[in-house]
Amino acid sequence: MIEVITDLEAMRDVSKRVRDAGQTIGFVPTMGYLHSGHQSLILQAAAENDFPVLSIFVNPTQFAPDEDYETYPRDLARDSALAEAAGCRLIFAPPPQAIYPLDYSTYIEVTGVSALYCGKSRPTHFRGVTTIVAKLLNIVSPDRAYFGQKDAQQAFIIQKMVRELNMDVQIVVLPIVREADGLAMSSRNTYLSPEQRKAARVLHRALLQGRELFRGGLVKPDELKRAMVELIQAEPLARIDYVELVEPETFTPARSGTDPMLALLAVYVGQTRLIDNLLFSIGE
Ligand code: PAF
Repeated sequence: MIEVITDLEAMRDVSKRVRDAGQTIGFVPTMGYLHSGHQSLILQAAAENDFPVLSIFVNPTQFAPDEDYETYPRDLARDSALAEAAGCRLIFAPPPQAIYPLDYSTYIEVTGVSALYCGKSRPTHFRGVTTIVAKLLNIVSPDRAYFGQKDAQQAFIIQKMVRELNMDVQIVVLPIVREADGLAMSSRNTYLSPEQRKAARVLHRALLQGRELFRGGLVKPDELKRAMVELIQAEPLARIDYVELVEPETFTPARSGTDPMLALLAVYVGQTRLIDNLLFSIGE
């Protein structure tokens, strides 16, 4: 059975022992309820490092009071089996009060970009993400940390934080893993009813349609956005939060003719907010 550590000092001790032995640590931070997307991160961490570590922590500071912190799916037994099968050596699952004691008051924020796109409807979300990721990186001290491209803005913000705070860790971002019908893997997909699950395919369909138009010579962001918005609006169960096109290197709005452009979208299907993204490039 894979070892699960809940104590911060015990986690630090293991990391120190591994590093003192000259071994590398690959770290996959998650909120648990693992799926194939997480599995691909663990497999890569296991392939590139001597000691792959997974964290499971449903981070309260990245949820707004009206969001799904309490109901977020949790299943440590299931996650442990999946993590072990993917080659993980240790799970770090601290209790919330160990990470955020009652008088906790320190936050890390990547200003500017954290307020855009997903940050518009979730204004405190990225501050919570950067705070917990910085804390976990400090505790686990990995050589490499692995994140999924599905949360493209999160990956961009974490890379910026690591660069700007001179943190000694390599951030590795791996491609989106999709269901057979194109829906990006997410722990929140379990919230969808069968009818909503079908409707959720519209996110990937809109991105594919946008990419086809881009490759066909439609390079004006506003026109591309309009085409994707119209397609999503035709799905009665879907409600758009945002559709944007950005320059992938800077996350600033794409200009006409930018190549490549990264299309980002967030769409509610019922009460469930889903995100997805796709790179539009003439050459690919
Ligand atoms: O992507 C996630 O699952 C979370 O945002 C992360 C990076 C584990 C921080 O809580």
